[in-house]
Amino acid sequence: MPIVTVHRKAHFNAAHRLYNNNWSDARNVEIFGKCANPNYHGHNYGLIVAVTGSIDINTGFVMDMKVLKDIIKTEIEDYFDHKNLNEQLIEFNPKDGLNPTAENISVIIWNKLRLKIDATLNLKVTLYETERNFVTYCGL
Ligand code: NI
Repeated sequence: MPIVTVHRKAHFNAAHRLYNNNWSDARNVEIFGKCANPNYHGHNYGLIVAVTGSIDINTGFVMDMKVLKDIIKTEIEDYFDHKNLNEQLIEFNPKDGLNPTAENISVIIWNKLRLKIDATLNLKVTLYETERNFVTYCGL
């Protein structure tokens, strides 16, 4: 059967601060600029989830989009939306967590989705932090 990619878009709003605890404040401002602001700032994140696989002979689907929609809602939107990423998500805790860059957020999103989507299907996520800045991750 042909190999096709299906896509689903989603959104969430979240606040973050980019900061490396091992650096001085001056070094953080030098590298992260306004993103190091201690009072945080927000983004309207845009997410595109791409699932690639062969078309199922019985359904005509690569994956049921209703199922994909519900997985994204439960695993990603409910988890990230209206959160302060540094303060509220364990992965980004200010003590020893990851810096909540779009790169690191995309990896966490991919890892969460990967557990819920059939292993025979390929998965790629695209995360927009702004209209012009976006990252992709496909598990490599
Ligand atoms: Ni930012």
